[in-house]
Amino acid sequence: MKRLLVTGGAGFIGSNFVRWALRNWADVDVVNLDVLTYAGNLANLSDVEGDGRYTFMHGDITDAALLDRLMGEGIDAVINFAAESHVDRSLMSSEPFVRTNVVGTQQLLDAARRHGVERFLQVSTDEVYGSLGAEGEFTETTPLCPNSPYSASKAAADLLCHAYHHSLGFPAMISRCSNNYGPYQFPEKVIPLFLTNLFEGRKVPLYGDGLNVRDWIYVEDHCAALGAILEKGSLGEVYNVGADCELTNLDLTKRIIAACGRDEDSIEYVKDRPGHDRRYAIDSSKIRGELGWSPAHDFDDALARTVRWYRDHEDWWRGIKSGEYREYYQKQYGGGGGV
Ligand code: NAD
Ligand code: DAU
Repeated sequence: MKRLLVTGGAGFIGSNFVRWALRNWADVDVVNLDVLTYAGNLANLSDVEGDGRYTFMHGDITDAALLDRLMGEGIDAVINFAAESHVDRSLMSSEPFVRTNVVGTQQLLDAARRHGVERFLQVSTDEVYGSLGAEGEFTETTPLCPNSPYSASKAAADLLCHAYHHSLGFPAMISRCSNNYGPYQFPEKVIPLFLTNLFEGRKVPLYGDGLNVRDWIYVEDHCAALGAILEKGSLGEVYNVGADCELTNLDLTKRIIAACGRDEDSIEYVKDRPGHDRRYAIDSSKIRGELGWSPAHDFDDALARTVRWYRDHEDWWRGIKSGEYREYYQKQYGGGGGV
């Protein structure tokens, strides 16, 4: 692999991955294609702008002509991060989710096919499997049962990748990761939202009874897993990625509050998310056994590192926490806690 196209590289995981790839693959050129939605921010990559192996291209993955031009210049592999990624937003309007997550993935697959791309990694999510009860974990053969418009659009993209491989011999692979946290995560997602609210002296809005469970992974561990799949993964395969770190939202919230030196009066219980998935838990034995990947970060250490990052980057998140979100959260969930 000489030239890698990263789509959605100006977002949270994409920007961490671009940095990871430039650091770990000395002979790879990275092209970042991003349309810069509200979640895309070139400041996330200001430290690599001067790297001669890195190019940014402003554009949309649904734009077939642009993809033709770009891939015509020679792209060996594609990793697709570009997406609408927030469940609560998908409950307000699913149109952008279907457009980018489904149609965008189809356009990328078709362009990559036309131009003979050798490897294509679709960055998917454990949410495509739906919700678990108290026991069990998602494996790669768990049937897809997405419950939100976001996860339904991601599942549709996964099925397109599967079909292109199965019927057309297209070199697609799929990763399905659990909840990420770390630097540059947009403060609509629970960890940066709660951290920044606490820094501002505000409360944190905990949905429902707070006992929904998420399985947490530090973003750099996810990036290393994606690197391993791009390098060594078998075409046509799905790889679950997770770090065996299940926490209820209440437990997570208490740890965040403790890390910020605040007390539990900062919790404000608000109305539950409609259709809220109860529990996610990932069985990642396949990628560990077949590709030799395993997570390198302990949750409490990496959470402390994340807290420091948000403390030290107030300019980054203050500009983002704007009126639109505040209005939405207040309308949807009540109280004064949201972004
Ligand atoms: P994000 O919302 O932070 O970033 C998405 C990026 O995609 C932004 O830079 C945005 O500008 C770009 N984008 C959106 N529409 C585009 C389009 N039409 N054309 C080009 N660029 C476009 O998302 P994230 O949290 O970094 O997630 C990245 C990917 O990883 C997504 O596909 C998501 O489904 C998946 N994922 C996320 C998590 C998580 O915990 N955040 C876990 C597993 C999988
Ligand atoms: O599992 C992977 C998925 O993780 C990714 O595919 C998604 O892109 C990513 O957004 C994330 O989805 P979640 O819905 O799990 O993440 P979010 O941070 O929105 O919420 C995490 C949990 O916290 C969830 O149970 C809802 C709860 N929550 C969230 C917010 C924003 C609250 O209690 N209060 C909040 O204000």
